Amino acid sequence: MRTPLCDALGLEFPIIGFSHCRDVVAAVSRNGGLGVLGAGGLDADELHQELTQLDAESHGRPYGVDLVIPAKTLGDDPELLAAQIPQEHRAFVDGLYERFAIPRPPDPRSAKEAWRVRGRRRASEQVDVALAHRPALVACALGPPPSFVVDAAHERGVLVAGLVGAPEHVPYQLAAGTDVLIAQGTEAGGHTGEITTLVLVPQVVDAAAGTPVAAAGGIGDGRQLAAVLALGAQAGWIGSLWLTTVESDLHPAVKDKLLAATSRDTVRSRCRTGKPVRQLRTPWVDAWEEPGAPAPLPTPLQQMLVRPQLEMIARYGVSEPAGSAVGQIVGILREWTSARTVFSEVVQGALDAIDQVKGLIAP
Ligand SMILES: Cc1cc2nc3c(=O)[nH]c(=O)nc-3n(C[C@H](O)[C@H](O)[C@H](O)COP(=O)(O)O)c2cc1C
Repeated sequence: MRTPLCDALGLEFPIIGFSHCRDVVAAVSRNGGLGVLGAGGLDADELHQELTQLDAESHGRPYGVDLVIPAKTLGDDPELLAAQIPQEHRAFVDGLYERFAIPRPPDPRSAKEAWRVRGRRRASEQVDVALAHRPALVACALGPPPSFVVDAAHERGVLVAGLVGAPEHVPYQLAAGTDVLIAQGTEAGGHTGEITTLVLVPQVVDAAAGTPVAAAGGIGDGRQLAAVLALGAQAGWIGSLWLTTVESDLHPAVKDKLLAATSRDTVRSRCRTGKPVRQLRTPWVDAWEEPGAPAPLPTPLQQMLVRPQLEMIARYGVSEPAGSAVGQIVGILREWTSARTVFSEVVQGALDAIDQVKGLIAP
């Protein structure tokens, strides 16, 4: 199952595992895939600490770093941005604390999490730190990577990946110097477009004209990995599948909710970040759809508004509003098991599926 992308990244298997949890990332890398650390929420110091640990825990195997750098931004100054959040929105979120009995952050205005702005200044610090650790890949979510990312990565021989949700995005990514396209279908967890993986991947492969494509969205077992390889992808980019592994640091209450959910229990909503995020449908998400609820703000304002609340829900596992970004494969998530076991099952399942399809060819 080696593809040219495996060779370029030094992988044994065409599996890229995205997670915000370092233990999952290290496990994927140690097993021959590429673990990619979701670092969007980390300050430069925190990122340095995480990558120092990851350097040790990945046992010399390659890993990647994913940064969330919006192509367009409303600005970098947290206080100026905060001033743009309407009182109506603050009052609505305040009411959600009462309604769902969510513990209040000690001081939301001074809480670090409240003012983490995904601006360029912070992104440039993150890029410097990430590249000092020599990852094999730097990925940029939310649009083509800015030139300061591409130039700095290429100077050090690091590949740059960019996420696309529609074939029209491909020329912008190629013009920006992206080395690996991640074609992400609507069924994926996290920020998604509207086109399914099955429809999107071949279109992106054709438009990419030789630039390698990884397929994301809807890969929950080896059959789905084999399917995206058949569509022309050179790796599967997998996020949701790791959420219920033992290594995942999600609160147990959330893991249990994910295990109980079906593939119809996710929804694309702008309530988390201001852009459409596929996530578990919860009473908290539904509250944003109710008559009288304010429309979510543009990013990063919505994120600044709700992040302290989501952090408190996640920390204490407040059961009613607790949720997570997750894709439609939530319906096939298995009982808690190790990332290593999940990884091996995906590899074996893909090999079996490829054999099965080969067997269909008449001798
Ligand atoms: C909990 C969660 C958080 C995510 N956060 C990010 C992120 O910060 N940056 C990013 O590029 N993608 C993020 N994603 C998307 C993943 O990188 C990946 O593209 C997606 O999970 C693939 O589809 P799947 O969920 O069907 O496996 C996230 C996905 C999940 C499930």
